[in-house]
Amino acid sequence: MSDRSVLLIIGGGVAAYKCLELIRLLAKRGIGARAILTRAGAEFVTPLSVGALTGDKVYTELFDLTAEAEMGHIELSRSVDLVVVAPATADLLAKAANGHANDLASTAILATDKPVLYAPAMNVRMWEHKATQRNLRQLGDDGALFVGPDEGDMACGEFGHGRLAEPPVIVEAIEAALSGGARPLTGRRVLVTAGPTHEPLDPVRYVANRSSGKQGYAIAGALARLGADVTLVSGPVALDAPAGVSLARVETAREMLAASEAALPVECAVMCAAVSDYRPEIETSHKIKKDRGGLTNIPLTENPDILQTIAHLPEGERPRLVIGFAAETDDVVAYARTKRERKNCDWMVANDVSEAGHGVMGGDVNEITIIDGEGEETWPAMPKEAVAARLAARIADALGQKGRQT
Ligand code: C5P
Repeated sequence: MSDRSVLLIIGGGVAAYKCLELIRLLAKRGIGARAILTRAGAEFVTPLSVGALTGDKVYTELFDLTAEAEMGHIELSRSVDLVVVAPATADLLAKAANGHANDLASTAILATDKPVLYAPAMNVRMWEHKATQRNLRQLGDDGALFVGPDEGDMACGEFGHGRLAEPPVIVEAIEAALSGGARPLTGRRVLVTAGPTHEPLDPVRYVANRSSGKQGYAIAGALARLGADVTLVSGPVALDAPAGVSLARVETAREMLAASEAALPVECAVMCAAVSDYRPEIETSHKIKKDRGGLTNIPLTENPDILQTIAHLPEGERPRLVIGFAAETDDVVAYARTKRERKNCDWMVANDVSEAGHGVMGGDVNEITIIDGEGEETWPAMPKEAVAARLAARIADALGQKGRQT
């Protein structure tokens, strides 16, 4: 990564001081940094200390004729491989989400032709505010990358989500974003399942669940951005296919199994769908009449387990990396651990779908724990797009280590 560089936009938050450590860690990894310090950011760290670490001029003003003569603000925004906004304050996120360009930082974000990675940091109420969540969604839709925020004690004395991700974690995200440019999954075939299944009872009724498909679609998109050849097998959802993904729409679990098997061979299978475990035993071609009592007792029969089927394929046919998702409301990690063994998957991604668990089903934020053969890794709550980007990078890493299958 020694020829890589980032433009670091330092916003005005107490956590701005962590940027000094970030620049130092980047330098150690051979990643150069240029810095823009917002006016508020300069209240927390001085241009002198930032400049001493970047070894470069620190850019502060949009209308700075000397700076423009040296390097125009457009050129500055494009002179690097990645723009990193840390701390990304609620204000910077709002400006970026709405395309403002009234200072150097927002202008650089709007003018850049490079990916932008945001490391948000703010008070927990500001983070949870609908406006901030709306801005995050918008930025995610526009292709932005995210790292953090973490949960913990805040400088303001409150506790919750909003702490800037730790500098080593931001470095990891930067490296993932930079290698994303190199598309490390080029030529790798991946299967992703997403959404619910609909199990028909009669022509108008079906058994289903609340899955929105957002997490699976985001993962499919993130894998495709890393160059993977992705087949997304999706149950009925109101989402468009992510760019570069081949989408197979299905309704039932049995159709989902058939479409998943048709997508084989793949090197990695990410089974994100909330497959209905049961389906009505009988599907009638006419509407069941309630006055004849046909709806008081609906016998159910078990659906095939797609994940288990694929994870138990003989060697050679089984994807090298099989990832399951375990949505639970209690004892989330303990259940997921058992499920990983039973279903024979390499990684089980556990998430809490209880009311307290960020309203994961249908919501835009997810907090996951990954259980693999080595142990457990819990990530802070973050937008589903951010979970997807980080998971895709982890998959790319794992497949890289396992070597090319075909
Ligand atoms: O057992 P449970 O449904 O909680 O397991 C969840 C995981 O199993 C998810 O990865 C889901 O996609 C997968 N699954 C499946 N087919 C089923 C049930 C679950 O692929 N019939």
